[in-house]
Amino acid sequence: MHTPVLLNEVLDYLNLASGKKFIDCTLNGGGHTKAVLEKFSGVEILGIEYDPVIAAQVSKELSVKVVNDSYINLRAIAEAGSFYPDAVLFDLGLSSWHYESSGRGFSFQKNEPLDMRFNPMANSLTAAEIINMQPENDICEILKEYGEEQFAESISRAIIKARQIKPIRTTLELAEIISNSVPGWYKKRKINPATKTFQALRIAVNDELENVKRGVAAAIDVLNPGGRLVVISFQGLEDKIVREIFKEKAKEGILKYVVRGTIRPTWTEQQSNPRSRSAKMKVAEKT
Ligand SMILES: C[S@@+](CC[C@H](N)C(=O)[O-])C[C@H]1O[C@@H](n2cnc3c(N)ncnc32)[C@H](O)[C@@H]1O
Repeated sequence: MHTPVLLNEVLDYLNLASGKKFIDCTLNGGGHTKAVLEKFSGVEILGIEYDPVIAAQVSKELSVKVVNDSYINLRAIAEAGSFYPDAVLFDLGLSSWHYESSGRGFSFQKNEPLDMRFNPMANSLTAAEIINMQPENDICEILKEYGEEQFAESISRAIIKARQIKPIRTTLELAEIISNSVPGWYKKRKINPATKTFQALRIAVNDELENVKRGVAAAIDVLNPGGRLVVISFQGLEDKIVREIFKEKAKEGILKYVVRGTIRPTWTEQQSNPRSRSAKMKVAEKT
């Protein structure tokens, strides 16, 4: 079960009321959407979810329109259904289900094939392909750029060495290679030494940063005047992209800030849901 983050804040800032239209661009099991349904009657909801397994499940459980597609296609989805929203939510990244039950290698704590695709039916590139096929420089760039991994060079060198002996197929094989290629002090910190490499690979496999740029830009286009855009991100690179788009669109007079800066979970939420600790929420309104 995925616990929705910043739930009260999302409900407040979406500014919904009966008769309004809401698009949840990252529906998952519908944590935020269910709360919207409970709090507001008469809100029309469309949910977008790229993962086909989750989309199939949630469409059985929720009485909202579910579209199994990437939110980068938001403009076409809105146009096709003549569904122009008064509020749009992005709750970026992946869900607890991906780590715990997907079997696709998102977690270094489980022994699974290195896949990491949100949509295995639509995308062909897997994490295993990056690790086993791409040149050392490209792997190193991915780890630096998407993982901000300070040991990107030694980790990518170790990956190349290991794959010359045999292909690296599983999460635990990769986690061990990483652990053997970083200094002892790096392994003793609270955060697992594989964390940044796994994040970087997932971002690369799913082209997540480019998606955020395209998805948020499309949301600004389709929102009705006065409509609200709420974006929750879980790492600095995504947050920076959102900050820059908001700044540029505010300068152009297309958006205005509802809150300056970032909304963070309360201490109580961070205690009860550790996943929320890195959450950063930004809210803007279309003029
Ligand atoms: C953090 S979860 C959302 C959780 C949800 N708000 C809730 O509280 O239940 C992010 C979801 O976005 C989905 N996702 C990732 N990339 C996507 C994309 N490009 N288009 C649509 N959904 C995407 C993931 O599969 C995942 O289910």
